[in-house]
Amino acid sequence: MLKLSQRLLTLARMIPCGTRVADIGTDHALLPCYLIKENISPYVIGVEANKKPYKKACFTVEQYNLQEKIAIRLGNGLAVLKPGEVNTVVLAGMGGPVICDILEKSPQVLASLDKIIVQPMRNAEIVRFWLVEHGWLFSEEELIYEDKQYYQIIGAKQREPGEGVFSLNEAEAAYGPLLIKKRHVLLSGLVEKDLAGWQEILGELAKSKKKETKRRVIAYQEKMQKFRELQEWLEEDKGGL
Ligand SMILES: C[S@@+](CC[C@H](N)C(=O)[O-])C[C@H]1O[C@@H](n2cnc3c(N)ncnc32)[C@H](O)[C@@H]1O
Repeated sequence: MLKLSQRLLTLARMIPCGTRVADIGTDHALLPCYLIKENISPYVIGVEANKKPYKKACFTVEQYNLQEKIAIRLGNGLAVLKPGEVNTVVLAGMGGPVICDILEKSPQVLASLDKIIVQPMRNAEIVRFWLVEHGWLFSEEELIYEDKQYYQIIGAKQREPGEGVFSLNEAEAAYGPLLIKKRHVLLSGLVEKDLAGWQEILGELAKSKKKETKRRVIAYQEKMQKFRELQEWLEEDKGGL
């Protein structure tokens, strides 16, 4: 029996049953193996940019004897896929800028997809802004806490013709319009952790006398104020429960 971490399991649950999937940056290839074993997907392509994890992925697939239903490809992002080969793409465990770069580089493959599932390790705001600007809408968002770390997981679908243009404010980009809307129970913990991190950075920046740094400090302070207000609102709700 293949046991997944809560993070990988949450990703698997967002994959529509019966769709062909590409797992970009597959590394251990546990997600592809799970999707086949649980009959969630009929065919999965795991993509790896680096040789060592590529070999690891091939080994896992052989170990579970799933070579007929899982192809592991060595290459960069979506570039090793043909348009229409898969319906759903997963990009998990990478930084936000890397995820956007991968999506940006293959517009034809991207246009042929029904769903993208992303789990950025950092800079979730960059990914959300990118998705909205490129015609994607959030279909679901999850937040989990595992091994002392928060993970945001975002599902997105192509905007249909006629569906309104959607815009995000800074808080929504960082913490997710759907997570905020449902006042996710873990969200105030994540905002609090981020605020503590930024407070530390601010302490260091405040020591500088450079004009440019002072401008950055003001920008940080304004952003933090908005996030503090969000956190107070989330905490208020908890008090009322
Ligand atoms: C931290 S691992 C995440 C593994 C798995 N997706 C997960 O969430 O557990 C990130 C993997 O992405 C791979 N990677 C990074 N950039 C990539 C790219 N442009 N195309 C394919 N794989 C990439 C790395 O080699 C690494 O194995």
